[in-house]
Amino acid sequence: MTTQQLTIEPASEHVGAFVSGIDLAQAAAPGGLGPETTAVIKDAWAKHGVLFFREQPITPEQHMAFAEHFAAIDINKFFAAVDGFPGIAQVLKEKDQEHNIGGGWHTDHTYDAVPARGSILLARETPATGGDTHFLSVGAAYDALTEDLKATIATLEAHHSSEHVFGAKAEHAKEIGDRFGNADAVGGTTHPLVIKHPETGRKMLYVNAAFVTGIVGWSDDESTDLLNQLYRHIVNGGFDYRFEWEVGSIAMWDNCATWHMAYNDYPGQRRLMHRITVEGVALDAAA
Ligand code: SIN
Repeated sequence: MTTQQLTIEPASEHVGAFVSGIDLAQAAAPGGLGPETTAVIKDAWAKHGVLFFREQPITPEQHMAFAEHFAAIDINKFFAAVDGFPGIAQVLKEKDQEHNIGGGWHTDHTYDAVPARGSILLARETPATGGDTHFLSVGAAYDALTEDLKATIATLEAHHSSEHVFGAKAEHAKEIGDRFGNADAVGGTTHPLVIKHPETGRKMLYVNAAFVTGIVGWSDDESTDLLNQLYRHIVNGGFDYRFEWEVGSIAMWDNCATWHMAYNDYPGQRRLMHRITVEGVALDAAA
């Protein structure tokens, strides 16, 4: 273990920070990153929602060891895994594929009763141009709601499902990966529209257009109207930061605090990312 001199610089007003002065390969060395460095990263993660690290050409073993500093690994049910590493999911778009993974705004795994807390994505192959990932803060989005809207949604819950995205009838399932369409793995759950962040207690809007299928007890039309109003507010409020990848870049995001989407703007080029998701805790309503 070496003592590392971390520097943390915000990426934008509401979301994201760049972390430098650290060699994440140390995560797999005896003693790992050490408790002080780990605590600084945890604090920065809770504060900024997503952390960016540059020039970290770490091995899969080191990637796993880094993730295990924060929580146990939550194995993705739908993406193909890296050979020999069931805990590392491949986020791959081949040259001849049309669809990408994560191409719409979402939060990972919200269809699970206890969703993955965080995702740690490492760029292995990037296209010459394009393929950025856009992040935004759902805490800042909540804060900026009108008091009327806050009162309307305070005690509501939403249905979340993986069926329409990863199930047998999902139109792009077969093209993206052979584990998509896995009927045994699809499922759903409900979560409050406003959750209390497990570390900071901050109120977070916890709905997303990819996995939410409706508001509990509301008609389809009523649900769609309210959800679309919330989605427009979240996306258009300036709570965002767009990250440009290089091979060896890492983004580590907090699924309780952020949304993200991967741009699909690099036709004919390959993009390969390795993603580890780490376990979360049951989500409490903020009301
Ligand atoms: C994801 O949605 O987890 C993938 C994001 C990306 O590939 O940039």
